Amino acid sequence: MGGLKRIYLDNAATSWPKPDSVYDAVSRYLRECGAPAGRSVYAEAHQANQAVTAARASLAKFLGADDPRRVIFTLNGTDALNLAIHGLLDEGDHVVTTVVEHNSVLRPLRQLETCRGVKVDRVACNVRGYVDPLAIRRAIRPKTKLVAVTHASNVTGTIQNISEITAIAHEREAVVLVDAAQTLGYLPIHVGELGIDLLAAPGHKGLLGPLGTGLLYLRAGMERRIRTLREGGTGTQSDDDRQPQMLPYKYEAGSLNVPGIVGLGAGIDFLRMQGNRLREHHQQLTDRLIAGLIDIGGVRVFGPAEASERVGVVSIAIEGYDPQEVAATLDGAHRVQVRAGFHCAPLMHAALGTLDLGGAVRFSIGVFNTEADIDAAIAAVAEVAAESAAT
Ligand SMILES: Cc1ncc(COP(=O)(O)O)c(C=O)c1O
Repeated sequence: MGGLKRIYLDNAATSWPKPDSVYDAVSRYLRECGAPAGRSVYAEAHQANQAVTAARASLAKFLGADDPRRVIFTLNGTDALNLAIHGLLDEGDHVVTTVVEHNSVLRPLRQLETCRGVKVDRVACNVRGYVDPLAIRRAIRPKTKLVAVTHASNVTGTIQNISEITAIAHEREAVVLVDAAQTLGYLPIHVGELGIDLLAAPGHKGLLGPLGTGLLYLRAGMERRIRTLREGGTGTQSDDDRQPQMLPYKYEAGSLNVPGIVGLGAGIDFLRMQGNRLREHHQQLTDRLIAGLIDIGGVRVFGPAEASERVGVVSIAIEGYDPQEVAATLDGAHRVQVRAGFHCAPLMHAALGTLDLGGAVRFSIGVFNTEADIDAAIAAVAEVAAESAAT
């Protein structure tokens, strides 16, 4: 492996590297503070509390949420999606979702369908991974309580039209849950303007926080409809053995992941300082990657070609080559690190026709990738594809 530089293109799984300010914030908290948040009154406990409050406020501002208490810290994106889905649905409810979803939406819904009599319709996408909002409209029934849709696919990067979907769902009084795992931090999201009722996202991908962080945003009033999935200590109303109903405590039982949350806060501050520059950089790199990959013989690129219709998640298949083998060769020979397989999105791979091919090879661009990284990845794929053509 010698002097080859590590080229990390697995940012859709978790972003790496993080800004220095994230490492510093986590390290400083662990070394100098180390106290729990919301529990005690000594100086360091107060500092921990302030740090969590500040991170929550930054996150709310970043999302365009008017009240920071509507942002709940969770363990990851999956935890936030489970809270929204299991917390909302009852026996007999109907849900509209799509085939482009991640298993963190599909599996809770399958579980409720199997064990609790919830009915689920999964709307198809077109060849580019786009779900027609009118198909969602057609799937909505009188008992539809929830429309659960991912903002951008973690396989093809395709961006869905959230404002049209929320308008359609709200005409029929359905709640809209948006899985923003692949968009928050990469695309501007204003929950009010998009009409989002519930937004779930990891803190460790586009928001640049550490693993073990995530969030659920709840529009005003949703807290009266979403049950808690776990109860416990919150540091508030401790003389009462019932779970507080006040936000955010209602949904934040147990000691918070303060090192993760202060890191997440630093990640958001970094993004806010960088502004549109990062977004433009991301789009340019995505364009560059797609243009390079499309030109390689034997390589099929999934999803839309236009960077404006997608985020920097790009999956490919190389004719005659198993995706796992491609990923192993890219890492082993070139230190290009990608993810191969089904990406926890079985219905999306079924829609793309890649289930029998072992899935696809996914490149996902992060804020610290460079043009040189992208060019190296393209050159590595070209070499693998040429070998496969020669054999
Ligand atoms: C679209 C999508 N939704 C949800 C998740 C789950 O997020 P987490 O890994 O934080 O649980 C992922 C993670 O890959 C994802 O890509």
